[in-house]
Amino acid sequence: MKALVIGSGGREHALAWKLKNSPSVKALYAMPGNPGIGQVAACHAVKDYVQFAEANSIDLTVVGPEVPLVAGVVDRFRERGLAIVGPTAENAALEGSKVHSKRFMEKLGVPTARFRAVSSAGEATAALAEFRYPVVLKTDGLAAGKGVIIAQNRAEADAAIAALPCPLVMEEFLEGEEVSFIVLCDGKRAVPLEPSQDHKRVFDGDEGPNTGGMGAYSDSRLMDEAMRGRVLDTIINPVVQATGFTGFLYAGLMMTPNGPSVLEFNVRMGDPETQPLMMRLKSDWGEVLMASARGALSMDRLEWTDEPATCVVMASGGYPGTFETGKKIAGLDSVSGAVVFHAGTRREGGDIVTAGGRVLGVTARGADLKASIDAAYAAVAQIHFDGAHYRKDIGYRGMRRYNS
Ligand code: AMP
Ligand code: GLY
Repeated sequence: MKALVIGSGGREHALAWKLKNSPSVKALYAMPGNPGIGQVAACHAVKDYVQFAEANSIDLTVVGPEVPLVAGVVDRFRERGLAIVGPTAENAALEGSKVHSKRFMEKLGVPTARFRAVSSAGEATAALAEFRYPVVLKTDGLAAGKGVIIAQNRAEADAAIAALPCPLVMEEFLEGEEVSFIVLCDGKRAVPLEPSQDHKRVFDGDEGPNTGGMGAYSDSRLMDEAMRGRVLDTIINPVVQATGFTGFLYAGLMMTPNGPSVLEFNVRMGDPETQPLMMRLKSDWGEVLMASARGALSMDRLEWTDEPATCVVMASGGYPGTFETGKKIAGLDSVSGAVVFHAGTRREGGDIVTAGGRVLGVTARGADLKASIDAAYAAVAQIHFDGAHYRKDIGYRGMRRYNS
């Protein structure tokens, strides 16, 4: 088949890299792609996706980011009879509107933090009385990871209400371990991917502001079979049945003492969770994705290596605040034992230079989690650019947990 990947980040590089290694994929395109994706796919500037797919006889399109999904790219492909992996615009609202998502979970009885939806700052201030601190405030629409504030006291809550555009969701703070539980759906059934864990804060020890994700690992021990079944029964399957969901459904879970609770739904794969997941996947990805697009997922599980994988994100100094770009990246060719997924890079003459907040996702497998972490950091040590920042503790939570 001829496959097209929509998007330009590390997640899309990992999706394209896996498709490239897929026996069923004969030609691979990306729109717009990036220099890393350009090593495995023919990259084209963004124009009309449908027109491009028709003109190039694309058999299967996979959408990486949420923005085109919320804008209805899947609906437009389907109107033309083109196979595409992703949800309709209507179902993409599970991510596109937190108010909708929370109300929907409430209606279906899916476990999630107690909440109030408010439409004005005045209403929000009044509703604070219903919550203890810390309280979590979330703006309704897509906010690229910047729409959530955890307020520790009244002053922080007032500042959050002033900073976040209404409508808002206000919800109780949950404690526990966060797990990214992603499934692939075909409208009727959901096939789970392996569990993974993201590291959202910018500094070691989960300090500093939230980012898009500073690293992730996937290890099958993150969730046992019984818990995976419970998540499918109480969270995933009710949503898939009620919505006829197609594409990737990502449940951001908090593993609380009372069981798994949904922090958020995303309607796409996670970034950077996709990077370690693709390094663990053994199934023919093109075939699996085509089955999803055709409404014909027939398997209960995908094939994975037992080896864990870890992705360390190398970011521009200053991210998620302001940062400079255009820094020359050295050492990319000397990396071995890891795959370097490009997130924010561009070509400048003969060089690859930085072009975004998250620049690279250095990803490796290992016989155990520790070995995968060590392999990823050994590769990180080979790569240099001015101001590079990365966390030194990606995966260590998992290691402490499994070793204690
Ligand atoms: P969200 O975009 O809704 O996943 O929120 C971003 C991050 O904020 C999550 O990954 C959590 O780390 C944190 N968060 C969101 N909601 C809650 C909650 N109810 N309790 C504790 N932490 C939360
Ligand atoms: N890594 C979190 C996300 O993709 O939303």
